[in-house]
Amino acid sequence: MLYHLFGDCQLSCLPLTVTWQTPSCLAAAQNLAKTYQLNLAKTVGCNSSDLYSLYLTEERLELICHYKGTTKTHRIFAEFLKGPLGYRRLKGGGRNQAIAKAVGLKSLTPPLTILDATAGLGADSFVLASLGCQVHLLERSPIIAALLLDGLKRAEDQKEITEIIQKMQVTVEDARKILRDLPNENCPDVVYLDPMFPPKRKNTLTKIEMRIIRDIVGDDVDAPELLSLALKRAKRRVVVKRPRSAPILLGRTPSFLITGKSNRYDIYLTGGNANTSC
Ligand SMILES: C[S@@+](CC[C@H](N)C(=O)[O-])C[C@H]1O[C@@H](n2cnc3c(N)ncnc32)[C@H](O)[C@@H]1O
Repeated sequence: MLYHLFGDCQLSCLPLTVTWQTPSCLAAAQNLAKTYQLNLAKTVGCNSSDLYSLYLTEERLELICHYKGTTKTHRIFAEFLKGPLGYRRLKGGGRNQAIAKAVGLKSLTPPLTILDATAGLGADSFVLASLGCQVHLLERSPIIAALLLDGLKRAEDQKEITEIIQKMQVTVEDARKILRDLPNENCPDVVYLDPMFPPKRKNTLTKIEMRIIRDIVGDDVDAPELLSLALKRAKRRVVVKRPRSAPILLGRTPSFLITGKSNRYDIYLTGGNANTSC
C-alpha cells in the first residue's frame, strides 16, 4: 500500500479534537494533533453542541461523534477484515455483484486499472481489489484519509487480505487535480465515482455513518465537474454510484444503468468501447 499525504487538501472546520484511550496512546495522539493542527482533549462529552474527535485506541484510529442533546457515541473507522466487508468477501456474490458488472469485470481485459476518485473509507475499492482490480484511491479529506490509511495499515498485516491490500494505492488529494494532471499513458481503464448525496432518512446505522462523514467533508457539490473530467480521462468507462432515485449527474444520459435495491450505477462508456455494454 503506497500513499501520499496532504497535497492541497483542506481540513474540516468542525469542532474537532484529538483524544486517546490509554496513556500508551498519548504520544501518538500528540503526533496526530500536531500533524492536523488540532487540540488535544481528555474527553469528548458535553451536550452544548455536536462534538467530533479523532480517538486513538490501542487497536485503531476512530472518528467519534456526540450529537447535541444525545447521549450515544457514534464511531466510524475503516475495517477491511471483519464486519460487513469481511462478510461480503467470504459470502458476497463475487463477479456477479452489481459493482463488478458496473466496472466491466466480465467484458474488459484483466487486470482492470481503476481510479476511485471518491475513496471515503475504501469499502468499494476493497471490493474491487478483492475481485482482482488494481485500484488507485483518491481522497481529499485528510481526516477521512487518516481513517482510511489506518484501516489499510492494520489490514496489511492480516494475512487473509494482504494480497488484496497490495492492490490498493492511496493518494490524499483532490481528484480533480489528479485527473487534470494525469499523463495519457497513466489513464485508468475505469474511473469510479461515489460522491456524497443528501440523505433522505437519518435513522439507520449506515445513514449515521454517512451523516458523520458528510459532517466532516460536506456535500460534494463539485461532483458534476469531477464527472466531466473523468469522462475525458477514463480509457474504457466511468461508473457513478448514485442513490436509486437520484437524478443523473451533469444532465448527461449514461450509456446504461445497473439498478439495485437502494443504489444505482450509471455507466458511461468512453474511448473505443462506446458501443459495448457490460
Ligand atoms: C460517499 S463517500 C465515498 C464512499 C466510498 N465509495 C466507500 O465505499 O467507502 C465520498 C467521499 O469522496 C470524497 N470526495 C468527493 N469529491 C472528491 C474529490 N474531488 N477528490 C477526492 N475525494 C473526493 C469525499 O471527501 C468523501 O470522503
